[in-house]
Amino acid sequence: MSKPSFEEILALQRKVNIVDIIGDYVQLVKKGKNYAAKCPFHDDHNPSMFVSEEKQIYKCFVCGESGRVFDFVQKYEKISFYEAVKKVADKVGININIDTTVKSNDNKYSDQYEIYNLSNKYYQNNLNTSLGKIAKNYLSSRSINDDIIKHFEIGLSLGDNKLSTLLLNKNYSKNLLVRSGIAVASNNNIYDKYRDRIMFPLWDINGKTIGFSGRIYEGNDQSKYINTMETDIFKKGSLLYNYHNAREHVLKEDKLIIVEGFMDVIRLYTIGVYNVVASMGTAITNEQISLINKLTKNIVLMFDGDKAGAKATDSFIEVSSNYDFDIKIVRLEEDLDPDDYILKKGKEKMMDHLNHPISLFDYKMIKYKNDYNFDNPNDVSKFISKIADAVASIKDDIVFNLELKKISKLTGVDLDLLKEKIVKKEEIKEEPVKKEYKAKIRETKYEKASKYILYYMIHNNDIITYYYDNLSYLPDDIDRKLASEIVLFYKKYKSFNMQDFMTYLEDNNELVKRIIDIDELNIKNDFSIEEINEYIETIKEYEKKKQIKELSDKLKNESNEVVRKEIAKKIFDIRIKENK
Ligand code: CTP
Ligand code: MN
Repeated sequence: MSKPSFEEILALQRKVNIVDIIGDYVQLVKKGKNYAAKCPFHDDHNPSMFVSEEKQIYKCFVCGESGRVFDFVQKYEKISFYEAVKKVADKVGININIDTTVKSNDNKYSDQYEIYNLSNKYYQNNLNTSLGKIAKNYLSSRSINDDIIKHFEIGLSLGDNKLSTLLLNKNYSKNLLVRSGIAVASNNNIYDKYRDRIMFPLWDINGKTIGFSGRIYEGNDQSKYINTMETDIFKKGSLLYNYHNAREHVLKEDKLIIVEGFMDVIRLYTIGVYNVVASMGTAITNEQISLINKLTKNIVLMFDGDKAGAKATDSFIEVSSNYDFDIKIVRLEEDLDPDDYILKKGKEKMMDHLNHPISLFDYKMIKYKNDYNFDNPNDVSKFISKIADAVASIKDDIVFNLELKKISKLTGVDLDLLKEKIVKKEEIKEEPVKKEYKAKIRETKYEKASKYILYYMIHNNDIITYYYDNLSYLPDDIDRKLASEIVLFYKKYKSFNMQDFMTYLEDNNELVKRIIDIDELNIKNDFSIEEINEYIETIKEYEKKKQIKELSDKLKNESNEVVRKEIAKKIFDIRIKENK
């Protein structure tokens, strides 16, 4: 891979604003000088990550993840540092000289990704050949036009083994093709796995193709959809269909619509509704919920109108109850799914549903109402006990009161009595995010001395020279490496500034993280040279102790008298220096 120069990356870094880039991935809320977000690198429930516009860095106080804009994109997208630089450059429309078509060695599944990419292109092309006519007609009969086909990369598998042959000719092994779910093996031969199916690529959260779902379109004695089996990179439970396309729209509108099938996503796209993902027919997993939680707390569940859809709705509500979501619900009439609903009833009716979803509370009320007969006082009493908890947890005072009135009207129970029976739950105040979350291990005086020396080096050019002339050693490997990089940078560019220096560190995220941690000391820059000397002495003392320890160990294992005397003398000399 051709790498860009430091100067190129620096020019890019100076044009980019970390807030804009990270804002494309997670929701940012302004908090004082900084921005806060739910950290995408651990299962975060409260915003624990901050993004500093001034320093152009991000840091999570809970999991400790931190870095520059490039580190964020690299980690989020699971790509190499230079691929992340390229991605950021593309986003701001800057041309940068990086050849990312060359395989980056840091991705051990790159062959598999390539296979899916090639297969995807191959399937898409089939649809435009004469062999694709019937499939194309089927798609038109479902009102799927060329624009949709292109956007969702819909393709077609044929009844032959051309894809396997094509991939074998490109030197991918039989074994890998089978393992990727593209081919099946039999008697030492391999055959295309997907045959005569409309192909829908399935993407990971960043839009990389990681598998397929193939739908029958003529004849119907087989199962409707066949999905890629679970592979090293395809885990159905950890993705949501259309997540990468929906992300920016969800962030913009601060709302996500969840449907069951990808045909529902596709149909909603045709009426201009883009903030949609599909659960793909399986029960929602914690991993999927956590993906949703990164984008918004406002969810609209619009599962199929049938019994199965109602069940899926209940199960989603149950599984997500640990999260602070604001869930609203759309139940479609006549057992329709969103796709059929739009085709049958039109855009306006669908938009009416989407603009007026029912609240989670009302949904529960409707559900329970069917189970009780309000002419029977015993049933009324049972009903009230059943819903008491849901009502009591309504956060908004006004909504709480209105709901009580509704129940009173519905059941004929006196409002005052209801107020007595159902007491609003006090909201549990969230603990403010603690700055130092992890149990802090007590710092040794050497660690403290290193940290302070580094802090003053970062903030005062003279200390860089002073360190180089008087110490040029720190006990910890990372600290030592960081200090020597600071010295090198300073010698080369004749001045030091933290942001440029962090860019200079390129893919060395370990040092970037360390410098961010050190900078957080946030102490005043008014030190005395005596203070610095004290830290330097502390480090020197550490060095001596270490040498003595090494020599004593040697002494223990040495039997030769002459050598023993030499070692003892060395120890003695160091001790004398120590006490002078
Ligand atoms: N699904 C699946 N395997 C099946 C059936 C369904 O993986 N045998 C998944 C698909 O992701 C599908 C979703 O479950 O999109 C919803 O299923 P269903 O409602 O049956 O499909 P539709 O989206 O209605 O598809 P179509 O309109 O083409 O029948
Ligand atoms: Mn359908």
